[in-house]
Amino acid sequence: MNEMKPVMQKRPGANLLRMPDGAGRGLRLLGACLLGLAVASSVAWSAAQEAKPATGTKTINAQSAQTQPTGDFVGSDTCAGCHTDAVKNFADNPHTKLALQHGKSGASCESCHGPGREHVEGGGDVSKIFNFKTATEKQVTARCLGCHAGTHPNFQRSPHAKAAVGCTSCHSVHAPNEAEDAKEKLLTASAPKLCFQCHNDMKPQFSMPFHHKVNEGAVNCNDCHDVHGSFGNSNLRSTADQNAICTKCHTEKRGPFVYEHAAVKGEGCLSCHTPHGSQNARLLNVASVNVLCSQCHSAVAATTIHNFSWSQSADVTPCIDCHTMVHGSNLEPGLIR
Ligand code: HEC
Ligand code: HEC
Ligand code: HEC
Ligand code: HEC
Ligand code: HEC
Ligand code: HEC
Ligand code: HEC
Ligand code: HEC
Ligand code: HEC
Ligand code: HEC
Repeated sequence: MNEMKPVMQKRPGANLLRMPDGAGRGLRLLGACLLGLAVASSVAWSAAQEAKPATGTKTINAQSAQTQPTGDFVGSDTCAGCHTDAVKNFADNPHTKLALQHGKSGASCESCHGPGREHVEGGGDVSKIFNFKTATEKQVTARCLGCHAGTHPNFQRSPHAKAAVGCTSCHSVHAPNEAEDAKEKLLTASAPKLCFQCHNDMKPQFSMPFHHKVNEGAVNCNDCHDVHGSFGNSNLRSTADQNAICTKCHTEKRGPFVYEHAAVKGEGCLSCHTPHGSQNARLLNVASVNVLCSQCHSAVAATTIHNFSWSQSADVTPCIDCHTMVHGSNLEPGLIR
């Protein structure tokens, strides 16, 4: 991963180079504070304007969507007066659109950027508004998780978070990539392109003679990985049984079989296969099937059945010529048929 750093530093929008104490320190409200303020200020506002009670409608994690002016919140329409670029197309943003469809009020400018009154009264004082571009990765991530912790509860313990890769290293709220799948998920690029920007060292694996067709679009990095973190190693998707990452697609290998091959059940698919790409057919870890089997079965002696002199050599009949049901059999314990 050493080669990765320069690549990442060149990437615009990634928060990796930010100093822990960047600009915008005036307004580092976490989601909880934001809610507290919103509630407190709506109370003040309602008291003053009895005829017009504050709306205070809820979004996914009960943060108030500030579409209406209340207290320190000036409302999205006020922002729109000066920030035409940021507002442009925002009606199509999942933060407005999807949430509205679900009968909620969406996330307004100030649900993310914080209350804007002082910013507006200061004629656009940049020290009085939360700026995602100058904030640290931790601050950005805390803001987003203020609403998305329910969807991505493991992010903080993920290898990405630990390496200071934050939400806006991959997502852009206002200017996502135009490709349809990227736009929908507010990504700066579609996977695998997004991933290769930093994981360039993985790229050759997907060009090997045998590989999962990720570049060809048949399989996606996200089919096997959850970049938002999981309980498994290597950001692998959490499943009841680690083989399920593979058997989700290779259903015929799932079993259960009457006669299981302990290697498949116990050690898992990766004891024989390489997930990304391989020089060997069937994505096998080693070139010779006999060598592969002998890694665990070297103690199997020459018998009347195995009437060859036991050898790891590829010259003797390959084990799988007879043991065709290497993933498990419903008929026979020797995995012959
Ligand atoms: C009176 C005009 C005005 C209003 C209203 C206004 N802003 Fe600003 N805003 C500015 C100016 C001017 C700047 C700094 C100059 C610039 O954009 O490069 C700025 C900067 C920002 C920045 C930092 C961008 C950067 O490049 O540093 C954010 C984020 C922001 N405003 C959000 C908001 C939000 C959210 C609202 C509504 C709550 C809002 N603004 C309302 C004028 C305004
Ligand atoms: C879901 C959170 C979220 C919401 C809602 C949101 N923003 Fe932003 N805003 C961001 C992030 C993140 C950035 C950093 C750039 C990016 O990711 O696209 C940003 C950047 C900006 C900037 C600086 C743009 C630049 O290119 O320098 C301005 C100005 C801004 N937002 C204004 C607004 C206004 C006005 C609204 C309401 C229409 C709004 N934002 C709604 C998260 C949000
Ligand atoms: C105030 C709450 C709030 C904040 C803060 C917030 N979001 Fe969202 N986000 C939402 C809502 C509501 C939706 C609409 C989808 C839904 O209903 O789940 C959404 C949708 C999304 C989607 C698209 C989901 C999909 O399934 O297509 C992405 C990606 C996303 N947000 C990323 C971010 C990022 C990155 C940040 C921080 C810059 C952020 N959000 C901050 C509330 C929020
Ligand atoms: C390393 C890149 C990366 C980082 C960092 C990242 N995301 Fe994502 N995010 C993705 C990709 C790729 C997808 C779409 C594929 C998927 O669903 O897994 C996605 C999807 C989403 C979605 C849509 C729901 C879903 O799971 O499909 C939301 C919401 C979201 N991200 C929010 C966040 C938030 C909030 C953060 C920071 C806490 C974050 N993301 C950090 C790459 C990233
Ligand atoms: C902004 C740079 C960046 C982007 C974009 C990015 N990653 Fe990462 N990724 C990292 C860093 C840094 C680490 C932590 C260092 C490491 O362990 O390799 C990491 C770790 C990982 C790991 C865990 C590696 C391990 O050894 O445990 C996986 C898996 C991973 N990323 C997959 C992805 C996928 C899939 C995508 C695209 C959806 C992606 N990453 C996008 C920077 C990035
Ligand atoms: C078919 C499932 C699958 C797909 C598709 C896949 N991965 Fe993986 N990946 C894995 C598994 C399984 C591991 C763990 C390997 C191990 O533990 O030996 C892994 C490990 C990794 C690692 C950390 C280990 C290392 O070799 O350094 C990174 C980084 C990674 N994958 C990135 C990616 C990226 C980027 C993509 C898309 C371009 C991708 N993966 C596509 C299954 C997959
Ligand atoms: C998203 C679906 C998907 C997932 C998840 C997946 N695969 Fe695959 N796999 C495929 C497809 C599609 C092919 C066929 C590619 C082709 O035609 O070349 C394939 C091919 C293979 C092959 C080679 C088959 C051959 O005939 O050469 C092996 C071995 C394999 N996968 C093992 C795994 C393992 C091990 C995992 C888990 C780490 C896994 N797969 C996860 C879709 C998937
Ligand atoms: C004990 C070693 C071993 C384990 C463990 C193993 N495989 Fe295999 N797999 C093989 C061998 C050997 C072949 C080649 C068979 C052939 O060429 O006839 C193969 C072939 C395959 C193929 C392509 C040919 C076919 O039969 O469809 C797929 C797909 C596959 N394995 C998926 C998996 C999955 C998914 C797992 C985990 C559930 C797994 N394998 C576990 C040894 C293993
Ligand atoms: C990761 C280790 C591992 C690998 C690699 C492996 N096996 Fe196994 N295999 C086992 C274990 C463990 C058992 C259960 C042994 C027992 O019960 O004595 C087993 C059982 C078997 C059995 C059933 C034995 C019986 O007692 O009936 C056969 C046949 C077999 N393996 C063939 C193969 C073949 C052929 C290959 C190569 C494609 C292979 N194995 C690769 C670990 C492995
Ligand atoms: C010519 C066909 C043939 C070949 C080639 C073959 N086997 Fe067997 N093997 C058998 C038969 C038949 C049995 C007995 C099956 C039974 O009892 O149900 C057997 C039994 C086994 C057993 C369980 C009994 C024991 O001796 O422990 C293992 C393990 C085994 N073979 C592994 C292998 C491995 C590893 C290879 C490749 C190096 C291999 N076999 C090659 C036909 C073959």
